[in-house]
Amino acid sequence: MRATSQAQPNIALVKYWGKRDVAGNLPAAGSLSVTLDSLWTRMKIEFDGTRKTDTLLVNGEEAAGMLPRVARCLDELGGPGRAAAVIESDCNFPIAAGLASSASSFAALVVAASAALGLTSTPLQLARSAGRASGSAARSLFPGIVELQVGENDIEVASISRPDAWPLTVTVAVTETAAKKIGSGPAMNLSKQTSPFYQEWLARQDADLQIARTAVATRDFASLAAVTEHNCLKMHSVMWSSRPSLVYWNAATLSCLETVRRLQADGAPVFFTIDAGPQVKVISEPHAGETVTKALHATSGVIDVMQSALGDGARLLVSQ
Ligand code: PMV
Repeated sequence: MRATSQAQPNIALVKYWGKRDVAGNLPAAGSLSVTLDSLWTRMKIEFDGTRKTDTLLVNGEEAAGMLPRVARCLDELGGPGRAAAVIESDCNFPIAAGLASSASSFAALVVAASAALGLTSTPLQLARSAGRASGSAARSLFPGIVELQVGENDIEVASISRPDAWPLTVTVAVTETAAKKIGSGPAMNLSKQTSPFYQEWLARQDADLQIARTAVATRDFASLAAVTEHNCLKMHSVMWSSRPSLVYWNAATLSCLETVRRLQADGAPVFFTIDAGPQVKVISEPHAGETVTKALHATSGVIDVMQSALGDGARLLVSQ
């Protein structure tokens, strides 16, 4: 009745921005991501029949705001008559600031909860449960480079390259640690309703996915770099053209893009992506990792720099 799990965040190279079905949280298009290694969420869950309500501690502090979403996910796994859950979650990176903490949190949650409930679920079943809580969380169940496809009624998710098959380094420039003002769920619904570019964005997702998939299969760094940056800037164009506009960037975000352009001009194998937050993620070949770290540290407005290799999918650490 007790289990502990670990999951790492994932960073999308071909992004998910928009839902086909809001109630079922079904994405409007597929996406492709890299699962990280050294940033993590560890989660301990115990179902306790003597308690009446769920409790959730995140980094030692009560997180009542997140509880309804967590409880809904647990209800789906354990059924409405399930025992109350005592959950402790620890995260070694900033939460809700555009660093995919919801992805690692919900991936860790479904793994720990299903073990504590004595369920035997496949990674795909767990990914589908995590995805109903946070679309991107489904990808954190799998290692390395991961593709999510949207079928008639549900998602399909699988790893398309193991972490050691094509080692890449992800360096994150933290430019703000406060939580973002609008979460990605309501923000993507706003884009769907108001951005004149939303339909165009969706219409081109399959083509971008095809390019990225081929780039991964052929280890074509330049092609993956080009499609990732283009896809990211398209998503932000949709965000910027929403009403009211969704501008997650700050001045340091733009300074980081200038740093990446300078590194590229110097011949470094690097490219950027940015999610629903002001942090910049720089993907590079591992040998360029140190140069990227130094350059981002020296960039105006950067608060911190974190680096990670590609890593494993969510997994159980302890089950009792
Ligand atoms: O899974 P959510 O609801 O946190 O949305 C994720 C949205 C992006 O991070 C911006 C893109 C992505 O594919 O991860």
